[in-house]
Amino acid sequence: MTKHLLSLSLLAALAGCNGAVDTASVPPPAMQSSEHGKIHPEIWPKQNSPIAREPAREARIAMLLAKMTVEEKVGQVIQADIASVTPEEVKEYHLGSVLNGGNSAPNNDNHSPAIEWLKLADKFWLASTDTSDGGVGIPALWGIDAVHGNNNVVGATIFPHNIGLGAANDPELMREIGTVTAREILVTGIDWTFAPTIAVVQNDRWGRTFESFSENPEIVSTYAGMVVEGVQGRVNSEQFLDNDHMLANVKHFVGDGGTKDGIDQGDTLATEEQLRDIHAAGYPPAIQHGALVVMASFNSWHGKKMHGHRGLLNDVLVERMGFDGFVVGDWNGHGQVAGCSNVSCAAAFNAGLDMFMAPDSWKELYKNTLAQVKSGEISMARLDEAVSRILRVKLISGLFEAGLPSSRPYAGKFELLGSAEHRAVAREAVRKSLVLLKNNEQLLPLAPNSTILVAGSAANNIGQQSGGWTLTWQGSGNKNSDFPNGESIYQGIASAVTAAGGSVELNESGEFSQRPDVAIVVFGEQPYAEFQGDVADVDFKPEDSLAILKSLQAQGIPTVSVFLSGRPMWVNPEINASDAFVAAWLPGSEGGGVADMLFRDAQDKVQYDFSGRLSFSWPRTPSDVELNLGKPGYDPLFAYGYGLSVTDTSVFSELDETLDPTITAQNDSRYLFAGDAVQPWRLVLNDKAGETQVTGNAQRSAAGSVNVKAADYLAQEDTIEVTWQGDAQLLLQGSPVNLSRQSTADMAIQIDYKVISASEGTTALYIDCDGCDTNIDISDDLKLKAGQDWQKAQIKLSCFGLSNDALTRIKVPFGLRSSEGTAIQLKEIKLVSNEGAARCSL
Ligand code: BGC
Ligand code: BGC
Repeated sequence: MTKHLLSLSLLAALAGCNGAVDTASVPPPAMQSSEHGKIHPEIWPKQNSPIAREPAREARIAMLLAKMTVEEKVGQVIQADIASVTPEEVKEYHLGSVLNGGNSAPNNDNHSPAIEWLKLADKFWLASTDTSDGGVGIPALWGIDAVHGNNNVVGATIFPHNIGLGAANDPELMREIGTVTAREILVTGIDWTFAPTIAVVQNDRWGRTFESFSENPEIVSTYAGMVVEGVQGRVNSEQFLDNDHMLANVKHFVGDGGTKDGIDQGDTLATEEQLRDIHAAGYPPAIQHGALVVMASFNSWHGKKMHGHRGLLNDVLVERMGFDGFVVGDWNGHGQVAGCSNVSCAAAFNAGLDMFMAPDSWKELYKNTLAQVKSGEISMARLDEAVSRILRVKLISGLFEAGLPSSRPYAGKFELLGSAEHRAVAREAVRKSLVLLKNNEQLLPLAPNSTILVAGSAANNIGQQSGGWTLTWQGSGNKNSDFPNGESIYQGIASAVTAAGGSVELNESGEFSQRPDVAIVVFGEQPYAEFQGDVADVDFKPEDSLAILKSLQAQGIPTVSVFLSGRPMWVNPEINASDAFVAAWLPGSEGGGVADMLFRDAQDKVQYDFSGRLSFSWPRTPSDVELNLGKPGYDPLFAYGYGLSVTDTSVFSELDETLDPTITAQNDSRYLFAGDAVQPWRLVLNDKAGETQVTGNAQRSAAGSVNVKAADYLAQEDTIEVTWQGDAQLLLQGSPVNLSRQSTADMAIQIDYKVISASEGTTALYIDCDGCDTNIDISDDLKLKAGQDWQKAQIKLSCFGLSNDALTRIKVPFGLRSSEGTAIQLKEIKLVSNEGAARCSL
């Protein structure tokens, strides 16, 4: 295999940092911060906000403030989720903002047509500006996670996730994507997108790696300003936040991509200099380009949560970087600050958080914050400062003059969602993001007038090629019909091939009726978002794709792999079994962009050469999770910046296939599968004589009050049957795990069960840490379901009413307490994202 070295110019570029900060403000040389977690503001770049404080605007802010009651002021600093707040409540509590989380949509329907979004925007706007109660009537801002196009709305153009855009390394294209995305949001009357994410990911175990442009701060800092400019227009020009543009939001400040072991919402142990030079690199340029909202991060820095970090939120972000907008929190992130809960956190507000993101907790939080202002725990000066910051952004963005959402220039132009012009931009982004890792015998690009087999479970799956944050939070369960304007990779290939007179056959498992000249196999990771995507190692776990590739090769058919993933992964066996291998990341709705790269044109000429280059280093082993350019011992399989062009003649030798991951991680979301406890969880019976672990396929508790035996449902022994003869518990138990972030995200325990009979007494469901045992009475539910068929129930973690602290040490994520007469079958128990079905009962 040829060795790929970084070019000298690339290395030189990497040595520099923060192109947008002028030299007069370059920070002094890095100094050693001996006390970790302590901030030295003087080492951070000093710059001023590019947006002047205009006297007329400042006077208007002062006038509004003078008129507002303290209740109105407190309402202004609170943001609620549309699934948990009504327009009437927005009016009553004078809320400053609403958002829709990844699982929230109008009418509680993730497939709500665009018109419903616009109608709801009108309702919130009317409610917030209603002055019939004598209030000031300040228009509320609506924020949405349009992180790869306006991805919550059916029909929108879905762009490649950021990891692919990083590989494209095309700042100008980022501006265009920002503008197109803004336009597709503006048609629904929404004001603000929670994007771009400017995390600089250093550990690819993190489930949000795909939301990051690069492991390299250089790309991220260039892109940060370009995306902000695309969404908002050029700062201080006439187009800035005009009708064609809207508010962007850089996130998550700061250190989100640097947590220990890549754990989502974890602790970042970087030095202050690393925080500045790596993780914060995108902030100064984003602010220079006019960023007006910064989202605080869930992570801690040396044990202190960012939501409560005054040194970073105020002394660095505001005082040094010249940020003059407002800081919004992340989804109940304030609740994780020491001493706080989701409904009470003066500490975060006093540290510089200007707006709480309090999706479901807003009402109690409102009451507590109001009380804290009245008691002086929050000073009136601090409240006025936060409200002024929010009003300033609302004024700069033109919200007061914009009028009813449906009356705005782009409102209702739904033909723009997934328009041909917008899709062309996304398709270009797909082409530029693909990285060619292997191309033996210069197999690619293929002649389109050939006989092509398209195989692999991801070949005809727009949901999978789009990944997380697509229609739903996790992006799972989407069908091709959910993307009326999208094209799967297979569909893209089919149109290229048939147009050129070739023939194409789709067969997921790799069989064919006509022997193909070439087989294209599309496979990769299933969609995920946030902590649900955290992994122990970057091994691509065997799927049928490897067997398909091997079988095709054994038949002498050349194979092309198209690999979909949100992170670089160890795929040595798959690479060996492929003649050509393309890292396609998560390309989104434009499968045609993949076909563009795989095929020559109808005249057999190369249409596009591969220009994508790795913005993340590619692992040599499954445990290469902290593989970053410039790190001591850097030894990637494919270095940062690698990517073949079609003229490259390098030929690969076999890669090592024998490596095993050396990392193990706690499984904190799957407990019972096919009737077996999932490692490291144990299935335990407990009665008055003590605990008994279930080991074989039949087990009785110590005093005989309950017994378990294997039973059959869809397959042999794929379930267990539990029968009570007395008072006893069945539980899944292990060493303590932290479920607080899952609870905050409104996740639910999903139980696949069948009730054979129900006892006359009480049956309770519970979760437990030492001494925090809590019950949900399900006696009546069981009686109702007795004798019925299989059921699937989702019970919200939050229904158990545990404190954040208790949730950090759960030893029993599932327990069932019952008595004589109950018999139940259980197949699967796991945590899932609540897409609207979860309740507090079975
Ligand atoms: C995520 C943010 C997102 C917010 C609103 C949080 O859980 O961390 O990136 O903007 O939810 O959906
Ligand atoms: C996400 C939200 C999502 C929610 C699920 C949060 O962590 O960021 O956007 O809707 O969890 O309930």
